[in-house]
This record gives sequence, C-alpha cells and structure tokens, in this order.
Amino acid sequence: MSTNTTSAYSDFHLQFIAGEWQTGKDDSTNNNTNPYNGDTLVEIQQATKDQLNEAYDAATQAQETWAKQTPAERSAVLYKVVNILDQRQEEIVDWLIKESGSTRIKAMVEFGATRAITLEAATFPNRVHGEIRPSNTPGKENFIYREPIGVVAVISPWNFPLHLTQRSIAPALALGNAVVLKPASDTPVTGGLLLAKVFEEAGLPKGLLNVVVGSGSEIGDAIVEHKASSFVSFTGSTSVGKHIGELANGGEHIKQVALELGGNSPFVVLKDADIDQAVKAAVFGKFLHQGQICMAINRIIVENEVYDEFVERFLSHVKTLQVGDPNDQGTAIGPIINEKQVQSLRDKIDEAQKEGAKMLLSGEINGQLVPPHVFTEVTREMDIAYNEIFGPLIGIIRAKNEEDALSIANDSMYGLSSAVFTADMQKGLRFARGIRAGMTHINDIPVNDESNVAFGGEKNSGIGRFNGEWVLEEFTRTHWISMQNEPREYPF
Ligand code: TAP
Repeated sequence: MSTNTTSAYSDFHLQFIAGEWQTGKDDSTNNNTNPYNGDTLVEIQQATKDQLNEAYDAATQAQETWAKQTPAERSAVLYKVVNILDQRQEEIVDWLIKESGSTRIKAMVEFGATRAITLEAATFPNRVHGEIRPSNTPGKENFIYREPIGVVAVISPWNFPLHLTQRSIAPALALGNAVVLKPASDTPVTGGLLLAKVFEEAGLPKGLLNVVVGSGSEIGDAIVEHKASSFVSFTGSTSVGKHIGELANGGEHIKQVALELGGNSPFVVLKDADIDQAVKAAVFGKFLHQGQICMAINRIIVENEVYDEFVERFLSHVKTLQVGDPNDQGTAIGPIINEKQVQSLRDKIDEAQKEGAKMLLSGEINGQLVPPHVFTEVTREMDIAYNEIFGPLIGIIRAKNEEDALSIANDSMYGLSSAVFTADMQKGLRFARGIRAGMTHINDIPVNDESNVAFGGEKNSGIGRFNGEWVLEEFTRTHWISMQNEPREYPF
C-alpha cells in the first residue's frame, strides 16, 4: 500500500495528464465554489488544446500495453480502487457535499452507486468472452472476439459527478481501454480529479486515465473530434448531446457514442394505489438532490378518484422537508448548483403561473436555496410538465382514468425512467409495458440504478445502456475472425 494512503485529498489545482499532475496552460481559470455558501474551494488553471493532445497521445500509447495485461492484473487495480474508496469514504462524501451541494443522504447514495459500479467493473476482465458460430462454408470456423475499443472520451455532468464519471471510466479501463475525461466545470474535483487520485493510488499505469479540466464550450468539440478516440461517452443535456452526436458522426469521423441525456419521468398514481406509500415515494423521488437528477420525477399524474387525497397528503409531507445546509444531517433540500440554474427555475415558476397552474406551495428563494414549489391543475402541455425541470418544483396532473394516465405519461419527447403505483401487480406490469421509456418501476420511484442492470433511455433521452453486460458490450468492439481450414472452392 502506498504511503500517501492516509494523507488527505486536499490539493486539486492541477490537471492530470500522462500520469503527471501538471499546471493548466490556458489563460482562463476554473473558480470552483461551494454552491451553498459561495466559498472558493480551488482555482484551477484550465487546459489548452495542446494539453488535450498530450493527454490523447499518452492514452493511445498506454492503452496498447494495458490491453495486453492479464485480466487478473486489470481486475486487481479495480479492486484496489474499491478499497481506497472505502478507506476515503468520509472525505469523498465531504467533497460531494461541498462541491456539488449534495445533501448527506444524496452523497451517501452517490458514494454507494460509485462503489457498486467499480466492484461490478472489477469482474469485467474475466467476463469478456467471445463466441464460436457455425459456418455454411465447408471447412470454415467462425470466431467472434470482443476486443478493447482503444481510447474512450468521457464527458460528464455535475449532478452525480462521482458516479456518472465512474460509471464510464471504471468499465472502460477494466475492459482494456484508456480514457480522456472532461468533468463538468461545476464539479472538476468530484467529477474527475478525485477519481484520478484514487486510480493513481491504486497503481493504474500512467497515461491510462487523463483528466482535462476546461470549459465545454472551449475544448468540448476538440475532445469529441480528436482522431485518437473511437468512442465518446457523454452524459448531460439533450441539446449538448445532440451536438456531440452530430460532431462524432459528421465531417471526417464515424465514432460510436453513448448519450445519456435529459429526462421527464412520469410518476403515475392509479386509483387503487397505497396512497401513503405513493406519497412517500413521490416526495423522495422528486426532491432528492433538489430534483437535479435526470430520472427525478418531473410529472406526477394521478387518477381523478384519488387526486384530491393525494395532493393533500403530498403537500403535508413536503411541508416537513428541511431546506438548508447540505452538511446538516436533517437537510432534505440543499442548494441548486449555480446561479444560472436558479434563474431557470425562477422562469419556470413564473411560466407555470402564467399558464394557469395553481401554486399551492412556494417560498422565498434565498441565494441558491430554492424551497419546494408545488403546482396543481397542471395540464400536459404546460412548460412545467412538458419540459425538464431539474429543480424542486413539481406539477400534479389529473388523469381521467388509467388509459388517460398512460397517454399523458407517454406524451413526452423524453423516455428515460418512469414509475407507476397500483395495488394490482398485473395491472402495473401492463401499464409499465405500455410506457415508452428505458426504465419503469412499479410501486417505486423512477430514480433507480443498479450496477448489474441495464440503465438508459430512448427518444431524446439518449442511446446506449450502462451497467452489467450492457456496458461490457458498449466498451468493447466485436471482431469476426474466420479460419478457412481447407481450400475453398470459388466459382471463378
Ligand atoms: P450540459 O450542459 O450538457 O453539460 C454536461 C457536460 O457537457 C459538461 O461536462 C459540460 O462542460 C459539457 N459540455 C458543454 N458544452 C459542450 C460542448 N459543446 N462540447 C462538449 N462538451 C460540452 O448538462 P448539465 O447542465 O451539466 O447537466 C444537466 C443535464 O444533464 C440535464 O438535462 C440532465 O437530465 C442531464 N443528465 C442526464 C443524465 C442521464 S444518466 N441521462 C445524468 C445526469 C444529467 P461544462 O460544464 O464545462 O460546460
């Protein structure tokens, strides 16, 4: 075990390129602040395009050797990463709270998910396998190999920075690839630099993981277009995702992409549901991390017969939520990530009222603290229902019956996650199968992620699947090799 195991991870002002901690050479600075109190956490000189090229060169070189290492050697690094995460859990949770405004509850959820995907990825080197397929050509044998892709570009968001970064980089590395990562500008530490320290401490060979801190608008396109990367794994907004999809497959390139984008999760309460349980789920599934989760409940759809009862109980539960310091054990709702997001929520509150929604609960916005806002008599075409909110606001829609509820649930350009509450599991299953989304949970919240189960969306929520065998396939390439064991007869 290296001697720096016990020294705290405190200094994050450098880039991590080619296995070295180096100063960014751009004129601009990332001023990383705590979204709750505005304190400066670290100032990072940003990277230039030359430094990005250096990262890609190092990754390309290191990957060749890494791909040839035994599965056991690659697994061992990932298992060490799990050990280090465990040893450093407290300081990692502390960084999640101060950098991304995570409440303690959310930070623990995120830490758990990060640990789980790392453990899952540690099994990948031994799980990769090929196939032998029959041939209709006499004397031929067909082999299907799964090989590393090469260099994977990863661009990650600020909301679950540690987990959504690790969800790409741990499987990519385990499967013999190298990574060039750009974390979100709001979370350069938890979205990248902190993980670089963990992998370094775990003995990952130099050059395999590069963390380049710079703004998406400055170096984002160059990361996607660089000729050394064959795969781009992007998690973020639908608008930037579309741009990345076009870039990766336009001009000179055809690259594989995984796009995990925005969502508009419906949470449906049918008339036979256990209302108490549905209310508890709705409150947690809406307000965890201030609603800044791609799978967060974005619309609550309730069947007419139980609408008033649900609204009344939902309101009384929401009123008990503590808004404030995310470090405080009792806080349910902490700060919004930045001023721009707060402004977008202010605009949404105004728009909902203009469109005729009834605001049953509101409160003063104090800095970046936005208290819960609840709207009723919301209709499917209103902005608050039709577009992604990404904050602690919610509209409750009245459905005439089950059929109407399904039609409203499906009336969205997104298709990430969803949920339905009912006492009848067969009805729940029928309803769930009618939803056009990548994920639906019966009698639970739409916010679910398990490291061994397919995660992802459809429509404008993206393409590709994470976790388990699905990510194992994403981060390897398929190679058909045939062996002609006897001379083949050709027609001419
Ligand atoms: P974005 O603005 O899209 O940012 C995501 C990442 O893209 C950041 O690292 C950002 O860098 C980078 N970026 C921005 N412009 C770029 C460009 N032109 N080229 C390349 N990269 C660029 O999203 P956000 O505001 O951070 O996150 C919120 C959105 O992400 C929501 O819509 C949410 O639903 C979605 N999201 C989806 C999921 C899944 S799993 N589907 C998970 C989390 C979030 P900078 O920070 O430097 O701008």
